[in-house]
This record gives sequence, structure tokens and C-alpha cells, in this order.
Amino acid sequence: MAVIVLATIHEPPCVVIKMPMSAEAARGIQRETGTLAALRGDRRLGAWRDLMPRPCTSGKVGAQSYRVDVALRGRPALDRVQHGAARERMLDTAAEAIHVLHRTTATTVLGDAGLARRWVDEPLDELLRHGGRRKSLAPGLERLRDELHDALGGGTLSAAWIHGDYWLGNLLFSGERSTPAGIVDWDGAAPLELPLHDLLHLLLYTRRLVTGAELGQIVHQQLSGRAWSSQERRLLDRYGAWRQDGSLSDRQALLLYWLRHVALHARQHPAPAPYRYRIWERRNVDPVLEAL
Ligand SMILES: Nc1ncnc2c1ncn2[C@@H]1O[C@H](COP(=O)(O)OP(=O)(O)O)[C@@H](O)[C@H]1O
Ligand SMILES: [Mg+2]
Repeated sequence: MAVIVLATIHEPPCVVIKMPMSAEAARGIQRETGTLAALRGDRRLGAWRDLMPRPCTSGKVGAQSYRVDVALRGRPALDRVQHGAARERMLDTAAEAIHVLHRTTATTVLGDAGLARRWVDEPLDELLRHGGRRKSLAPGLERLRDELHDALGGGTLSAAWIHGDYWLGNLLFSGERSTPAGIVDWDGAAPLELPLHDLLHLLLYTRRLVTGAELGQIVHQQLSGRAWSSQERRLLDRYGAWRQDGSLSDRQALLLYWLRHVALHARQHPAPAPYRYRIWERRNVDPVLEAL
């Protein structure tokens, strides 16, 4: 995706042009446009919708499609991530901001075969399709399939609309208090998903930003019993619904989160996958399967 932010000199940005550069990116922007329309049409969300991009026009120049959005206020804050106090404030306000979406659109789903297909089988099949030639991958993924089918087995779970790629790089912050002024990049969003995806991605991807470790390594450590930091624990206690209602263990929550995330990444690559994907897979899929 090419993203062009336009501003008059010394003024804040006024419009953003998004141009997909691949077939998958074109599907992504279509998904995102659909999500923005659906959530903007949900009056329960009220003024919270001002955090979302507002598409104003779209079209094609030759074969190149584009969408123009009104620019949101605020700026990306990745340059402040290494600063402990600023990071803590951003995490607190970011977790609260996305909780509003989760809380407002919350509904109950049954952990039946249809749900297991959507949350477990489809993402696993995506990984298998991409890792097709590596026979060593299949046994671990099949073990994971069994474990997660058991985890969902017939109970009820609280689901909601999620952003689906909720890390600090997709937030724009304004002011000294680091309040979110915008949430961008909605192409991984979906209804009827577990809010844990956004919370765990926010926490674990921030760890990735701070330490430089691969997400696969971070999830491996967490599955192997590494403790949450005090701030992570506090946010998990406040927003981690699966811990309060006992619907899932931390291990099951981590595995469902990781699986959705890596399958979304895999979807962005053609299958059979190129060499670059193989390297990513060894860093982000293998370590988690080793921890099972
Ligand atoms: N509506 C917007 N208003 C202001 N900045 C935006 C907007 N949309 C995107 N951006 C900026 O462009 C960056 C990339 O956009 P994003 O939608 O996240 O695409 P990508 O898929 O490339 O990550 C964002 O991190 C943000 O800095
Ligand atoms: Mg982004």
C-alpha cells in the first residue's frame, strides 16, 4: 500500500491518499472501506467514530485505484516508544480507546463447529497452504488444531468488532497526555471476534518495538511461563475479559491471538510462498509450535 499524506507547509496534514500496489492490498482497502462504512453507520459508537479515517472519495487512474481520506489529527508516536513513562501512558490510553469499540459492539457467540472453523481451521489452513512444502510444520499445526477445538468446545464467549492490527504504529496521538486522536489501518478488522486480539497485540507488539525480538519469540516466552510486566498485568486485569469470565486460559488466548495474526500475515503473500516468507515463518511460526 502506498500512503501519501498531504499538508500545506507548516500546517497539519489535510488529506491522505491510499493506493494499493498489489491484488491483496486492493482487496485489503476494499475490506477497510467496508469496515469504515459499517462502523460509521453504528450510532451506538457516537463520537468515538471521530477516531476512524473518513474516506471522502475513491476511484481509478488507469489501472491504479485510490482512496482519499480526510487526515486525522495527531501524529504517530513510535519515536516515544523507548521512553518508559510516555509508553505507559500511550498503552493505557490506547487500551481504553479500543475497549470502547469492544464494549459497545459486544455480543455472545457459541463455541460450536462454525466458530471453530472460522477461528481455528481457516487460519491454520492458511498457514498450511503457505508452508505446504515443509512437512515438519504439519504435526505441530495439527496439535494446535486439536487443542484449540477443545478450548472452544461448546461454551459461550464474548465477541465484538475488533481492529485486528492494533499496535502503536496504527495510532495517532495528540497532546502532552498522549491521547489517541486517530486509529488507522482497519483492513484486518472484523465483527464477532475476540477482543483479546487487540489487547494482546497492543501489549506484545509494544514489547517487540522495545526489545526488537520477533513476535514468535515473544509468544514462545509467554507460553513458556514468562511473567507479564506489572503494567501488562494491570491492563489484562482491566480489559482481559477471558480472565474475568474464565472462558479461556492465558495459553489458549495467546494461541488464538497468535494464530489469527500469523494467518493474516500469511494471507498477504502468494502461495507457494516466496523465500522472504520462509524466513518470517521460521522466526514467527516455528518458535510457537516448539513451545506446544
Ligand atoms: N486518515 C489518516 N490521517 C492521518 N494519517 C494517516 C491516515 N491514514 C494513514 N495515515 C498515516 O499513514 C500511515 C500508514 O497508513 P496505514 O493505514 O497504517 O497503512 P499501512 O497499511 O501502510 O500500515 C499511518 O501510520 C499514519 O501515519
Ligand atoms: Mg499501518
